[in-house]
Amino acid sequence: MKTHHIAIMGLGTVGGGAYDILTQNREHIKSTQGLDISVKLILDRNDEPLKKRGIPTKLFCDSVDKLAADKDVELVIETMGGVEPAKTFITKMLTAGKSVVTANKELLAKCWHELEPIAKAHGCGLFFEASCVGGVPIIRALGESFQGDRVKSIYGIINGTTNYILSKMSSENCSYAEALKKAQELGYAEFDPTSDVDGYDAAYKLSILCSLAFHTCVPYGSIFRDGITKVTASDIKNAHDLGYEIKLLAIGKREGDGLEARVHPVFVPKDHPLASVSGAYNAVYLNGDFVGDLMFYGAGAGAHPTGSAIVSDVIKALSGKPKYCEFENNGKLDGSVKLIGDFVSGYYICVTVDDKVGVLSRISTILGNNGVSIKAATQVPGSDDGATVVFLTHLAREHAVMQSLEAIGKLAAVRSIDSMIRVL
Ligand code: NAP
Ligand code: HSE
Repeated sequence: MKTHHIAIMGLGTVGGGAYDILTQNREHIKSTQGLDISVKLILDRNDEPLKKRGIPTKLFCDSVDKLAADKDVELVIETMGGVEPAKTFITKMLTAGKSVVTANKELLAKCWHELEPIAKAHGCGLFFEASCVGGVPIIRALGESFQGDRVKSIYGIINGTTNYILSKMSSENCSYAEALKKAQELGYAEFDPTSDVDGYDAAYKLSILCSLAFHTCVPYGSIFRDGITKVTASDIKNAHDLGYEIKLLAIGKREGDGLEARVHPVFVPKDHPLASVSGAYNAVYLNGDFVGDLMFYGAGAGAHPTGSAIVSDVIKALSGKPKYCEFENNGKLDGSVKLIGDFVSGYYICVTVDDKVGVLSRISTILGNNGVSIKAATQVPGSDDGATVVFLTHLAREHAVMQSLEAIGKLAAVRSIDSMIRVL
């Protein structure tokens, strides 16, 4: 049996996980897939990551140009992360005719349209199952299952760190800061958690998922994004009292030429399948016009789940011809697609007011004047002659709710607008 030589650029969490699977399951892959895969070279900043893992240092490669020039190496795994130098390194590999398997959602979301033509021009492939939802084979499912369907909507919990934080706040009634600290201690959240908690990571993944699901380029820049940093313990308690869990959802919807792509916290009804996805787990709930509802669930991160997706791509790349986007992947929203910023949703609104006659009526008048209908309202007396009022609205337009909040915030009796969270 021919041995396929491959290389890894970046031996960290995911690169190390992929190496473990490729070495520990080498015989299994040989016997089941008919492929003998050997890691010939590993590029990193130095050979420390190899020593730490007990990998022979003769595999260490200190130069991307040496790696690109190695004629034995057919395929390269990129698990360094970030845009540069990953983009330059991948370009060198593709230009040398080597297929690339990457977990790098940020690079994909920002530069897929630049990298794919290079792969195509050199007859090699760019594979990225590991870029979205870790070990869950969602990229493969979108490309190779229910192809006869039109995907109408995707609702995803596609960031494990934020799901862990929100689950912790929900189960232990703790603050955002306490839950974040725990997530950092456990290694879910990074020292600088911005990419996860502000929704960038989920937006990168949603850009990739929506482009594949809707067969049109959904640029990262077109995604509405709001993170979880403003979610409070009171919001979680109010959500529970009303029968909801709060989740950071990545939402993509396509109807005709209209497209919604957004990432923000959402009140999810407790009986919705996504409400019970907790901890660092991920799930993608999608609807196709004929297949109906499907839910994909599993570990969205971690060395071995993500490494498993990498190895699956390696096997796919070595087994057949590369596949390219069937839509025009030019990094721009197609002119025929209308991005819907004024989407329709339910809303949870929490305000602190002076507990005086007529305050509720002034707030409801503003909402009514903007066409926002109140579904439920609860008032809890607070300190200092104040009160907290919680509203749930019927379906309303985003812009109408924003205009209402601006006007409500200007009322003399309104002390603060504490929260606004969209409701599924
Ligand atoms: P990581 O643990 O930080 O590993 C990255 C490795 O690449 C480190 O050894 C790093 O060295 C090395 N590296 C970075 N820049 C380099 C450069 N310029 N030259 C040589 N080596 C370089 O990161 P990771 O968590 O494995 O993530 C890798 C990729 O997978 C990212 O794109 C990430 O978004 C994606 N991903 C991660 C997960 C997950 O669970 N972690 C899941 C899905 C996707 P230093 O440590 O010295 O910088
Ligand atoms: N930071 C990401 C998460 C890693 O928390 O889901 C997986 O992409």
